[in-house]
Amino acid sequence: MAATRRAFIKNFAIAGSALAVPSAWQRVLADSKKLPRRSVAASGLELPVVGLGNSNVFREGDVQASMGLMELLHQHGGSYIDCIGPSRFVVAEAAGNLGIGNKLFLGSYFSDDDEATNRADAQRLLEMTGKSQLDVMQSYPEFVIPNWDHFRRWKDEGLTRFIGMARHRSEYYESMMGLMETGTVDIIQVNYSPLETEADQAILPMALDKGVAVTINRPFINGEYFSLVRGHEVPEWASEFDCDNWAAFSIKFILSHPAVTCVLTETANPKHATQNMEAGFGRLPDQKTRQRMVSYLQNL
Ligand SMILES: NC(=O)c1ccc[n+]([C@@H]2O[C@H](COP(=O)([O-])OP(=O)(O)OC[C@H]3O[C@@H](n4cnc5c(N)ncnc54)[C@H](OP(=O)(O)O)[C@@H]3O)[C@@H](O)[C@H]2O)c1
Repeated sequence: MAATRRAFIKNFAIAGSALAVPSAWQRVLADSKKLPRRSVAASGLELPVVGLGNSNVFREGDVQASMGLMELLHQHGGSYIDCIGPSRFVVAEAAGNLGIGNKLFLGSYFSDDDEATNRADAQRLLEMTGKSQLDVMQSYPEFVIPNWDHFRRWKDEGLTRFIGMARHRSEYYESMMGLMETGTVDIIQVNYSPLETEADQAILPMALDKGVAVTINRPFINGEYFSLVRGHEVPEWASEFDCDNWAAFSIKFILSHPAVTCVLTETANPKHATQNMEAGFGRLPDQKTRQRMVSYLQNL
């Protein structure tokens, strides 16, 4: 738990032991447990800063475990869930069961060559979640770019509020930036972390400039990051930005980039999911500290 939150809750508990708790304070406490949100003016998009990647429990069709993970996200005020292929329907079923379809922001992928299949999938998701409109219809740039007129039509018709593209390697940035030039992209998803910083050269500044929302994948390089830091202590100076664990070290680095709207972490482990969401609270590193974080990891 971030130090500022810990201090707040401790102080609140002390105050609460001596006084009847006024309802305004209860609201403050409740709000303090909700993840901060970031808004992206040009797109009109506002997202809590930590979301869930396409978890194994979604892929495996485990609706009960998916409900557990999604309830945890919801309790923390989170909303973004990245879901692709059959996972989309597992997430939709779990959301429907929990009755939180309208509270979630689904980053759903649509990649079928047959447009009618994409539309049928979209309708099925709307029915399962109880939403009147999808949040974002997205796909890989190699599908989105040749089919952009379809995505734009789906948005014009109101089938989805936002449209975008998502990829996880720097070789895709150039084509993604080409489409961003048109000014019609609402949201992109790219890889970024203290060990994969190429996105801050051009694509993140461009997103910032154009008001394109940015979600981040591979915050832990699909787990490789934890292999690197295993056996090493988090440096003491990380407490200056309320960080006491390696997951938060990467997440806080990512969130301290001004172009980033939301970071997506993939886990099926509720303890890890909680730790990742907690990293969305508290202070973030400044520019000098960000450089120090990168050097620290490079020298492990
Ligand atoms: N569009 C694209 O091209 C694309 C490509 C890649 C990824 N993505 C999206 O981005 C999401 C995240 O990226 P990623 O798949 O590379 O995964 P990641 O979040 O970088 O890493 C996941 C790995 O980290 C572990 N982990 C997570 N939180 C942890 C914690 N607090 N402590 C210890 N271990 C932890 C997980 O293990 P446990 O399960 O044991 O926690 C898992 O092995 C994906 O789920 C997907 O939605 C999109």
